[in-house]
Amino acid sequence: MDILEAVRTRKSIRGYKKDLVSKEVIKEILEIATRSPSALNTQPWEFTVVTGEVLDNIRKANVEALMSGKTPSMNFESYKGIYKQRQVDLAKQIFKLMGIAREDSAKRAEWMQRGFRFFDAPAAIIISMDESLEGTLALFDIGAVAQTICLVAMNYGLGTCIEGQGIMYPDVIRKFTGIPDSKKLIMGIAIGYPDWEFPANEVKSEREPVDNITTWHGFTDQS
Ligand SMILES: Cc1cc2nc3c(=O)[nH]c(=O)nc-3n(C[C@H](O)[C@H](O)[C@H](O)COP(=O)(O)O)c2cc1C
Repeated sequence: MDILEAVRTRKSIRGYKKDLVSKEVIKEILEIATRSPSALNTQPWEFTVVTGEVLDNIRKANVEALMSGKTPSMNFESYKGIYKQRQVDLAKQIFKLMGIAREDSAKRAEWMQRGFRFFDAPAAIIISMDESLEGTLALFDIGAVAQTICLVAMNYGLGTCIEGQGIMYPDVIRKFTGIPDSKKLIMGIAIGYPDWEFPANEVKSEREPVDNITTWHGFTDQS
């Protein structure tokens, strides 16, 4: 797949076909994606790939934790100003496509649960790092490898959604995968074959024009 086409057309997939993704394919994706750069080549990322019964157990326990009112480890509510506005704009787009009315708290709750179920994807990649890396550039590196995984996956016809929701109950993930407390859970990635009939997959998220976020210095008419 052409690199520009992949970057331009990648999008978060929130509805998947039931088809399983083989271990071989995911391994190949990770092997390629770990060519990503990292500060001083420290390669801080570690992957835990879950599918089948293990992932189903995680989904179930995540939803139970959510329903019980347990406080998630991450908070998406702290964004302010333009950042909050972009979050709201995205939610409006998704809810419109999904036919979820603003006041329909039951459907909104069901949508929220979907996120905690890794959007019912057949597999998920959990990225963790050693606790000793806290305060280093490791998060930057993990962002780079996460985006690369998403792009490489497209070459195999796979869709992805980088998602915090899936790992917001770290105890659940640790219980079913054995990831020890010495490893910090950073992010989850849902992965599977996109269900293009699923309405939320039609979302084309907005982007700020480059002119609004870029300043240029030292350029002449020739450069
Ligand atoms: C660090 C990170 C965490 C995210 N967590 C979630 C999540 O928990 N739930 C969700 O639906 N999408 C999540 N997303 C996906 C973003 O909403 C999405 O990337 C953004 O709206 C841009 O849309 P696009 O990926 O389709 O281009 C996350 C993305 C990133 C990079």
